[in-house]
Amino acid sequence: MTQQETTDDTRAVANIGVVGMAVMGSNLARNLASREGNTVAIFNRSYEKTQTVLDEHPEAEFAPAHGYEEFAASLTKPRTAIIMVQAGRGTDAVIDELTRVFEPGDIIVDGGNALFTDTIRREKAVRETGINFVGAGISGGEEGALKGPSIMPGGSAEAWETLGPILKSIAAVAEGEPCVTHVGTDGAGHFVKMIHNGIEYVDMQLIGEAYDLIRRGTGKTPAEIADIFAEWNRGELESYLIEITAEVLRQSDSASGRPLVDVILDAAGAKGTGAWTVQTALDLGIPVSGIAEAVFARSLSSKPAQRAGASDLPGPSEQVSVDDQDAFVEDVRRALYASKIIAYSQGFDAIVAGAEQYGWDIKKGDIAKIWRGGCIIRAQFLNRITDAYAEDPGLVALILAPYFREAIEGAQDAWRRVIVHAVEAGIPTPAFSSSLAYYDGLRADRLPAALIQGQRDYFGAHTYKRIDKPGTFHTLWSGDRTEIEATDAH
Ligand code: ATR
Repeated sequence: MTQQETTDDTRAVANIGVVGMAVMGSNLARNLASREGNTVAIFNRSYEKTQTVLDEHPEAEFAPAHGYEEFAASLTKPRTAIIMVQAGRGTDAVIDELTRVFEPGDIIVDGGNALFTDTIRREKAVRETGINFVGAGISGGEEGALKGPSIMPGGSAEAWETLGPILKSIAAVAEGEPCVTHVGTDGAGHFVKMIHNGIEYVDMQLIGEAYDLIRRGTGKTPAEIADIFAEWNRGELESYLIEITAEVLRQSDSASGRPLVDVILDAAGAKGTGAWTVQTALDLGIPVSGIAEAVFARSLSSKPAQRAGASDLPGPSEQVSVDDQDAFVEDVRRALYASKIIAYSQGFDAIVAGAEQYGWDIKKGDIAKIWRGGCIIRAQFLNRITDAYAEDPGLVALILAPYFREAIEGAQDAWRRVIVHAVEAGIPTPAFSSSLAYYDGLRADRLPAALIQGQRDYFGAHTYKRIDKPGTFHTLWSGDRTEIEATDAH
């Protein structure tokens, strides 16, 4: 053994490393260091951030590195490092450096919000060096990273063997179980994280619509509506998002004394993961209409010039009013629950289709389980999803599970009344309405798709199938249409 190798071995003190000491990376490193038995190698491109973390957290078991060689030398084998840097070019740059200093069998984890197709590409390239590459979705924001996120890792089974215990040690815990599971190979983890974010978009949009309906329908104040959400949080809607909604609505602005929600500019931002979900679902041919409406609603909110120009367009000519406020609020609660079931059903359809397309063995029930803690969509309701897939692993749609079928049955009259009110009162409810349209579309005996097939055949000879016999047909539309003739196109 050479002098250099001996020195390197003695420096290998850390069982896990984190690259990137910005907010998410430093919080994740602190979380790791706080767990029994972990020593965490930390590295940041510019050393100041590393120094700040060391200065602010002298109690933590950190092994700081000034360069990639030193970082690699400080890690025990198989070396395991989690990258928490700026997504895109930053991630690629760090992967290049780590593959240079790591060896076959080592593990590189990308904990950023990467697009799953990038993760598939990176995994393939890194695998050729013999190093394992794991794309891991990490949800829960800054606080989750520090105290326990929901973690969705992809990658090889070999990598999961080393990584699993480490990730289990830092993940959120829900009902005694760590919120992490090996989702599937290569991009599976980031794919599921993307769908999670899409569901988060529609969950938030639905809550926004419920608030708007109650506010405009009953004239209640934000503080009064906060009480309603707090009450809802004690029932089947219990979730982190409902809980924080009550707190946001209760907050008043110290400068003006007004409800804070009334002084916040009503233009919603987005980091793009909702759009990724919709783009992916379009490619997979899966209707995630709730998520799409949620993404578009944010886009609409962020068009100040158009909104200003349109603000004097006429609304309904007749005022509609809510007679029984309590009954209306209860209707909205039920409509929210039914729409939420549709949103999750659509999200899981996208997971099933993605798994099929990319060859992942994704356990749907386990995904619902690991979303119960740490992440933004954590909710009591997720247990029902796990139960549904446990009872019937081949369930073709979540809404067909007995529990959800009954929940929608109990909610649907209220759901319809709320949407009728919204339409008559001129209150936009794109996610509520599209969810109901999806539900009615799915359960319809006959859809106007037959007419669309006729149109397609008329203008483009695209052919159609018949309900009464096999084969593919085309009608000769020109000439005397009373004598249309179907010819077998085979
Ligand atoms: P935040 O967690 O605050 O949102 P981010 O913008 O996602 O942060 O990522 C910032 C981190 O990515 C920083 O640690 C940054 O390193 P510097 O402090 O040296 O700027 C890191 N980063 C960005 N591009 C990088 C690159 N090409 N190589 C290495 N690290 C990079």
